This record gives sequence, structure tokens and C-alpha cells, in this order.
Amino acid sequence: MCGIVGYIGNGEAYPVLIDGLKQLEYRGYDSAGIALVDGNGRLNVYKEKGKVADLEKHIADRDKSGHTGIAHTRWATHGEPGAVNAHPHVSSSGRFALVHNGIIENYAVIRENLKKKGYEFRSATDTEVLVQLIDYIASRDDADTVAVLQCALKEVVGAYAIALVDMEHPDCLYAARKSSPLVIGMKDNDFYLASDVNPIAAYTDRVVYLEDEEIASMHYGDRLRIVNLSNAECSHEVMTVSKNLGRAEKGGFGHYMLKEIFEQPDCIRDCMRGRVDPEAGTVTLSAVRDHRERLLSAGRFIIVACGTSWHAGLIGKQLFEDLCRIPVEVAYASEFRYSNPVIRSTDVVFAISQSGETADTLAAIELARSAGAFVYGICNAVGASIPRATDTGSYIHVGPEIGVASTKAFTGQVTVLAMIALDLAREKHTLDGERHAALVRELAGIPDKMREVLKTDTVIGSLSRIFTYAKNFIYLGRGYSYPVALEGALKLKEISYIHAEGYPAAEMKHGPIALIDEEMPVVIIATRNAMYGKILSNVQEIKARKGKVIAIVTEGDDVISRIADVSVEIPGTAECLDPLLATIPLQLLAYHIAVCKGKDVDRPRNLAKSVTVE
Ligand code: F6R
Repeated sequence: MCGIVGYIGNGEAYPVLIDGLKQLEYRGYDSAGIALVDGNGRLNVYKEKGKVADLEKHIADRDKSGHTGIAHTRWATHGEPGAVNAHPHVSSSGRFALVHNGIIENYAVIRENLKKKGYEFRSATDTEVLVQLIDYIASRDDADTVAVLQCALKEVVGAYAIALVDMEHPDCLYAARKSSPLVIGMKDNDFYLASDVNPIAAYTDRVVYLEDEEIASMHYGDRLRIVNLSNAECSHEVMTVSKNLGRAEKGGFGHYMLKEIFEQPDCIRDCMRGRVDPEAGTVTLSAVRDHRERLLSAGRFIIVACGTSWHAGLIGKQLFEDLCRIPVEVAYASEFRYSNPVIRSTDVVFAISQSGETADTLAAIELARSAGAFVYGICNAVGASIPRATDTGSYIHVGPEIGVASTKAFTGQVTVLAMIALDLAREKHTLDGERHAALVRELAGIPDKMREVLKTDTVIGSLSRIFTYAKNFIYLGRGYSYPVALEGALKLKEISYIHAEGYPAAEMKHGPIALIDEEMPVVIIATRNAMYGKILSNVQEIKARKGKVIAIVTEGDDVISRIADVSVEIPGTAECLDPLLATIPLQLLAYHIAVCKGKDVDRPRNLAKSVTVE
């Protein structure tokens, strides 16, 4: 949800900034901009509608010199995408340039007040309001830049991560955050600033994560200084990050999404490494080991998450209830935070998030902790806000996910949930020893079976062409497959813009069956498990109404595959692990349909990878 990059140091700022923007483009890509302070103390600001590559092309022949600069890639909140609303925004006096990620909720009131003081506004953004407010306070008070920022930020309500250039102090870069992430990298005389650690990791492994309501000043040739809004000095541990965070490359695939779908066998193996021991039949997660008593004595688990992570949470509920007999509630973080939920100090709240930055999930965590619950994070992005805000957690370790539509993170989340469930089930003796060991072995074998599932890519690629005409899709599943149906429908909606609904298959009769006709493709997860007979009836009901059935079936199935219009075979596995395999054909289906329709799969319209605003 907007990406910020900043640099001040010995080197040229532009290459660091443009490269950083490319790595942060997953956060927003409707416009981009750069501000550079050149050797003559001039501020050059360039902005362009569209992607970072459009900006790069637009300024190919312009002066891009300078050792200080800030840059931004935008996901619009206030004001439509375009060069005028793109960041950086420069104050009327020309003294300040600002980039911002977040939402200033009281921007309208501040703008009206500033208008009365003679300020004019060029854009429709809340960010321009903030830079003008900073300008106004600087002109009113005889104060240094940090004091001006403290005063301005105390006036704003909302979320922000900002980077600021003050032309009266071009040898310094300023940054501040509240509820939106910012990382500062340090190397010799150079400072790097970014919304996540990836753009920094190539230059230095020494980083500091800015905390809420802190302001950082990065003086060229001096140390990093961080104070809070009350001007108290804040000391921070300098963290070491891996220089091999892995630059995201497409590795020969047409899109990141396809690469990430195909990476799943390796990612899931990495996710289980050192945790699953098929020989011993055990799963050991350090967070479960360290907080055994707290987890085992929980009266209830509550899972909070958004989007795809929420779908993983629905599978988590079934795993925890089925394997560990622990009652579980699953809530959308955005609903949970405002629903006045009953949270007990004996509850354990699981917060699931790929990015570790989702604003609603973070707010749900704060609420849960303030009520005394114990919070367990399941995240991908190492060192992000959610893992730092939780009591404990397990990383999913699937590597950077760049495609906006989440794929490998979903299977990583389900894998971690299955591991937690199996670890707890052993402690609680809720599974008999043999079944437990068999499930552990089955889990360990999932990466190889995923490789088999990926072989369906060719067949799915060709059948996708037939279905590009469709205006609507229905996805059906039961039990563990119901969240898979929801996830399949979400993938299709996000990247192909085809309307799709996920339903528990038996609910069809209670209304949605009215939608079925010969135009309606119905994707049904019909793998061999306890629900097979019921699903078979559901398939027949759809065929009787001339619906087009695309069935995901278990290898060797000769009943449903004969009735369905198209069937895709996947290897059999334990019912509770089925989502790890059945999801993959649905990811591929959404991908190929979107490609056939000529959509920008990695950067679907209106979406951003990390939703750091409400
Ligand atoms: C869908 C998707 C989103 C995210 C949601 C939560 O493909 O990616 O629905 O799952 O925005 O994001 P995280 O997991 O980062 O909290």
C-alpha cells in the first residue's frame, strides 16, 4: 500500500531509489515519483502515472544527479491515480518534499484551516495536506525540522510512514512512522530508507526498524538519531538481516505469480525444514515448545486474518478442532476489531498475515493483547510489524511473495497451521499414535505430491481458454475443501476480474442453485474423502441443471470424472491435508484465465500486496 524509498550518502541516489521502487512495486503501482537534491541545491521532482518503468522512461533524459533523494510508488487512497496526485508532494514554499504511505484521516479539516491561511492545493491527496501543514508550522515557529515534524504529526489522526526532504537542510533526510512500516539501513556514511527491508538488503545488513510515533534524522556523515513525538531519545537495537534475502526475479516464468505457484513444493519443504521429522513421526515448532502450557491451557483459539490469510484460518479452525479438539473461532480482522468481541485472558489469538503489515490484523492483535490474550503470529515477512507485535509465532519461510495474488503464502500458512495442530495433538493425546505418525509422514510427503499436481498445468492451460467467455463462476467444496473453494474464487476475481462465488457445496440448494444454467462454470473440489458421496450428489444436481462442471478429483477417480465436463486429477492424501494439493489447480486456473484475457496478472487493478490502511 504505497512503497517508500529514501537515500542519503556518498553515492548517487537515483540508482538506489529506482531500484528500490521496483522492488516495492508490489505495494502499489498506479503512479510513481522521485525527488532529488542536485549538487547545486536544487530540488528536482519527477512524477508519472503508471508503473515504475513508465517513470524511468519518462525521465530518461532528465537530470537525475544528487546524493539525497526520496521516492514513492503509489496505491491511491485519496485522489485518482495520475501525475498530479503522485508523490513526492512539495510544499507551496518549495522548502519541503514529502512521500507518504498511510491515510491522514483528518486531512479535510486541516486542509480547510490551511486554506484560510492562504495555502493552495494542487492535488486531491491527504499527503499534500501534510506537507503544507509542515510548511506552515515551519514558517510559524522558529524551530528545527524535527520539532516542526513533532508538532505537525501531533495534529494528524491516522496512519503514516513518511520520508521528508527539507531544502534548508539538504544534508539530512527525515522519516517518521505510525502504523505503517519503515526500515532504515546503515553503511559507513550512507543511510537507506524503505517500506520493507528488501530494497536495503543489497547494500547493507545493518538495519533499524522505526517504531510508532518515532522520527528519525539521518544526517550525512553523522549517526542516526531517533526521537519520539515528545522529543525523548529512542535507542534501537541494530538488527542484522541476511544480505541474501533473495532479489525477486521471475526466473524464466512469465509472471511472478506463476513462478510462485511452481515454487510451492520447494517452499513447503523449506517451511517444514527442521520442524517435521517423518522418521520419528514428530513435529516440533519452537513457539509451541516454548509456550506449551499457555497453548494447552487455552480455553479457546481465535484466528484473525484478512483475505487469503483468512481462508487459511478457516482451514486452521478445522485442523485445530479436528486434530486437537480445541474450540476455534475465525474472524475477519477488520470485523473483529470493531465488533466489541468477547476476549478472555485464557484465549490464544492466532494472527495470520503474509506481509505482516496488514493494518486490520495489527489492530486486532492490539485489541487481543489489551484484553490479556496471548497472541501467536503466523507470518512470512521476517521482522515485519506483526511478528514484532505478537507474543510468539512461526514464520512460514516461503520467501518473498511478489505476485499480488497470494499463492505460496497460502499453502505455507496452511502447512504451519497443520504443523501446530499436529504438535499440539501429540501433547494433548487427541490422536492415536499411529494416526499421528501417519499424518506427519503424509505432511512430509506433500512437496512431492505438489510436484505431481503441477503437472496439470498444461491441461489447465488449455481448458482455461474455453472458459474465458464466462462472466461468472461458482466454486464449491465441503469440509476442508470449502475454504479452498473460497480461495479459488478469490484468485479468479482478483486477477481475471470475473465474478466468482465460493460456497459450501450443500448450501447450493438453499439459493445459489438458481444461478445454474448452461453458461455457468462450476468448479467443484471432489476429492476422495469422507464427503465424496455427498459431493457426488452435488455434482449430479448441477449437471441436471446443465451447469458446466470442472471437477478436481483424486487420481483414478472414475465416477465423478465421468459425469463432469472436465476433471483434473490430483494425488490422494489425508483429508485434512487435501487443501495443500487441491488449491494448486485453482491457482493455475485463475492464472491461465487471466493471461488468456490479457490481464496484468502480477499487478491486478485496484489491488496492492500489503494493505497497511484500513
Ligand atoms: C489475495 C490476497 C489478499 C491478502 C490479504 C491479507 O490474494 O493476497 O487477500 O491475503 O490482503 O494480507 P496479509 O496476508 O499480508 O495480511
